[in-house]
Amino acid sequence: MNADIEQHAWHPDTRLFDAAAPLEQQLRFALQYAVLAPSNHNAQPWRFLVNRDTVQVCADRTRALPVVDPFDRELLISCGAALFNLRVALSHFGLAYAITLFPSEADPDIVASLRVSSDGYRDAGLAGLFDAITARVTTRAPFVDEVISGALQMKLAAACDAEGAVASCVEARAARQAIASLIEQADHVQFADARFRRELASWIHPRRAGDGMPAYGTVLGELLDLAAPAVTSVVRVFDLGSGTPATHQRLVEGSPLLVGISTARDDREAWLAAGQALERLLLVAAREGFTASYLNQPIEVGTLRDALQTLLQVDALPQLLLRVGRGPQVAHAPRRPLPDVVD
Ligand SMILES: Cc1cc2nc3c(=O)[nH]c(=O)nc-3n(C[C@H](O)[C@H](O)[C@H](O)COP(=O)(O)O)c2cc1C
Repeated sequence: MNADIEQHAWHPDTRLFDAAAPLEQQLRFALQYAVLAPSNHNAQPWRFLVNRDTVQVCADRTRALPVVDPFDRELLISCGAALFNLRVALSHFGLAYAITLFPSEADPDIVASLRVSSDGYRDAGLAGLFDAITARVTTRAPFVDEVISGALQMKLAAACDAEGAVASCVEARAARQAIASLIEQADHVQFADARFRRELASWIHPRRAGDGMPAYGTVLGELLDLAAPAVTSVVRVFDLGSGTPATHQRLVEGSPLLVGISTARDDREAWLAAGQALERLLLVAAREGFTASYLNQPIEVGTLRDALQTLLQVDALPQLLLRVGRGPQVAHAPRRPLPDVVD
């Protein structure tokens, strides 16, 4: 896939939305925005079934990441982020909706059924996030070393709260340092596992098209080389461009604010809520000119999750850990063509 086609998904022509068209057509139009949600390894583990006034948002477990995400927790978080973008797009186009989560006992892959209905839910706050959908991007570069205002932190916390999750903002240097050392431990555990490296390598393979992550220089070869298990943070945290692993210290300096997203429970409903909270937070940040990337390693390595919870000083269970700040402009990751994900 060439670069122009890869970027095409990020420029839907909003003027082509036809409010007089059948609802099914309007829903298909709105799904162009759902697929711009983030997903682990850019696996895009979702499918959408459109039938008249209803969209079923489905988990595509053929795109699961069994090593890094054995229980499909992050997979459902990604589906939650896609559902949130769909809600924002529908709100922008003036369509109210009602959502039923996990509507079918028989088919646990249907994570949500969304029906457009004039007496459905409307949220004026969502429409205002529409332009941020195409502006949001994961930025793995170091961020500007600056104080992040309390006002922004409160907006990020309110975004998570609105979706039933808790945001914990960490800006004190000593606390960021303690979390960075937990990330370093988690990196060591994960990258020592050849299956983890093999799984990651398969999603940054240059022959992938429409999904996966950009290849970082020589990293792919190193991931597949059992004798060189130390590429760690280059891929997962920073793209320093030189192939040099980000040091723990660089992580602290280049991440002025860390944000944990936690939920009271640890089940499929909580994971969907965490995904919607994630995307709401990211869109609010993007609207304010801020960007983010992920530091989920101490959550994925289950034995470190309690320690992270303690450092975040939160009663709820951590689901995601982000770094937030202002970074350089980076290219968008590709998306699969809509016909591949919409039935
Ligand atoms: C649940 C989840 C976990 C993620 N984990 C990581 C991660 O550990 N490291 C990373 O660099 N990016 C991570 N990402 C970001 C994805 O790689 C990114 O969303 C994807 O490549 C698409 O790029 P975009 O966000 O710029 O659209 C994660 C995203 C989600 C939703």
